[in-house]
This record gives sequence, structure tokens and C-alpha cells, in this order.
Amino acid sequence: MKLPRNFFKPLAIGAPAPYRDLPVRLERMIHFVPPHLEKLRAKVPDLAKQVDVVLGNLEDAIPIDAKEAARAGFIALGHAVDFGSTGLWTRINALNSPWALDDVIEIVGAIGNKLDVIMLPKVDGPWDIAYLDQLLAQLEARHAIGKPILIHAILETAEGVKNVEAIASASPRMHGMSLGPADLAASRAMKTTRVGGGHPDYKVLADADGDAPRAGYQQDLWHYTVGKMVDACAANGIKPFYGPFGDFGDLAACESQFRNAFLQGCVGAWSLHPTQIDIAKRVFSPDPGEVAFALKILEAMPDGAGAVMIDGKMQDDATWKQAKVIVDLARIVAA
Ligand code: GLV
Ligand code: MG
Repeated sequence: MKLPRNFFKPLAIGAPAPYRDLPVRLERMIHFVPPHLEKLRAKVPDLAKQVDVVLGNLEDAIPIDAKEAARAGFIALGHAVDFGSTGLWTRINALNSPWALDDVIEIVGAIGNKLDVIMLPKVDGPWDIAYLDQLLAQLEARHAIGKPILIHAILETAEGVKNVEAIASASPRMHGMSLGPADLAASRAMKTTRVGGGHPDYKVLADADGDAPRAGYQQDLWHYTVGKMVDACAANGIKPFYGPFGDFGDLAACESQFRNAFLQGCVGAWSLHPTQIDIAKRVFSPDPGEVAFALKILEAMPDGAGAVMIDGKMQDDATWKQAKVIVDLARIVAA
């Protein structure tokens, strides 16, 4: 008797496990645009051809006296630009701000049919998602919007991290979650003044070796929260993302932060600057060498069971499943 070989829950065709209920879409970089600036709005038609997602940012980094202009600018972009298969998202203001309600009502009313995802900042618990979910249900009915607008939470408060699992399962509209390291650092009273990335003093020292200077190795400040977020997302079939990297001049550090997140299970990150687009594209597409090795595993174990040795390393049912994640992603990238 042949045992069923795939112990994942059913997959949407071509979707990398475990994002089974979401549209199969590459979202390696969520590119942030400040829509109140006409000069940057003018670049969006070209940008939309280079990135997986364009996001109109209405929240932090938009000056208070430009909030309405940013909202209007985003609506204008939604009307004017053909985004094709590129995702169109917005980051609205926090729910307890004076702008959030108008952000949702005006944007969904005007361009709800083109909007894919609303990114919701400062999510503390499932109640925030439930509120936005109901508001969207009302507006979708009022404006006869044919497809559900999805919700993406930013994990950036200590309370949000405490409630991460409840947030991930709060609504069928949940698309995913991004780590927001800057607000999270403030919320936890970390002693940093940065937007993501490491810190030169957060390191361990190698053992002392006589009089030789001791080497220090920087640690990933975000390892714990990314791991917690990835587990909550994977268990609920939604997508985890690393968020922003604020030091635009340090491309190597940006790449290393993105890569740590990718290896831990994240599917993308934010690009805040054009130089970060290619970094995200490279990091969140699987490495050709890894794909070739993963294909060897799949080919050596056609029914996904048992154990084989490849290049001196043992492979079994569990590595077959890991290999499938990489090969599935490579197929989507190649499509
Ligand atoms: C993003 O919003 C952050 O706070 O890092
Ligand atoms: Mg933030």
C-alpha cells in the first residue's frame, strides 16, 4: 500500500508551503512611496514595473500637515497607474490617530477595486484586526467591491508581540505580518536609535586567546521576534516579512538582515530606498545552488519518503519537504 506522501495541508497550485489560501504572488519587496510628493509619484509607473508591491505610505515619515495630501496623492496614483500584476498596498495611519477612519473610507471608496492590501500599523491585538475587518466589510458592500481587501499587520509593539498568535488568526482577511523594528525598539525600551539592523555593541566575544585581540561577533537583534512571528504566521497560513532597514548607505548590512529573515522563513521585506529593491529581489529569490541541490533531493526521493545519501549528507522525508519549499518558490520566481 502506498502512503500519501505529502503531509502538508492541501496547497494552492504552485504556492510555497504553507501559504496555501493566499493568491500565489511574489512579494519579495514592499516598496514604500510617500504619495504627497509629486516628484516621487511621477516615478511610480516605472517603479511598478520593477517591484513586486507598491505601497503608498500614509503613516510615520509623512508630516502631519501632509497627511491629507498623502491620502489624496495615493488615490490619484490608484486612478492613474496600471499596476498590472504588481500589488497595490497602502499603510494607513494607526487606528487611534485622527486620520485612520478617513484613510480607510476615502481610499476604499475611491480605489477599493484596485487595492490589494491595507497595512495596519501599531497592532496590539486581534481587536484591531476585527475593527478593520468589519469596516472593510461595510465598505466593500457599499461600493460593490468584488474581491476582499486583505489586512497586513505591523508587529511593532510589545503588546502585539505578546498577542502575535491571536493577531495572525484574527480574520480570514489576514495576509501577513511585518516586523516593525523601530517602533518595537521604542515600545520595549531598547537602547537604540535606529530603524532595524544590528548594533555594534550587541555581540558576543570569542574566547580569550592569550594576548591576541578578542574578536566580537554581532548578533541579530531581531532573531527572537522574527522567529516568533514566523511561527505564528506559518501556523495560520499567512506570510511573514522583515520590515524596514534605515541605513540606506550600508547595503551589506541591509542584505545580511534581509537574508537572516529569509532563512528564518520570511518571504519579503520593505524597500524604503531604490537601492534596496535589488537586494530584496536577490535575497528573497532562492539561490540557484540551493535550488539545484533541492531538486536533487526531490529527484532522489520520488515518493518523498525514506532516506538517501546525497553528497555525503542524509536526506529523508523532512528534508524532502524543505526541498519542496525551495523548489516551489523557484518555480514562482521563474514563472
Ligand atoms: C516600522 O514601522 C517600524 O516601526 O520599524
Ligand atoms: Mg513603525
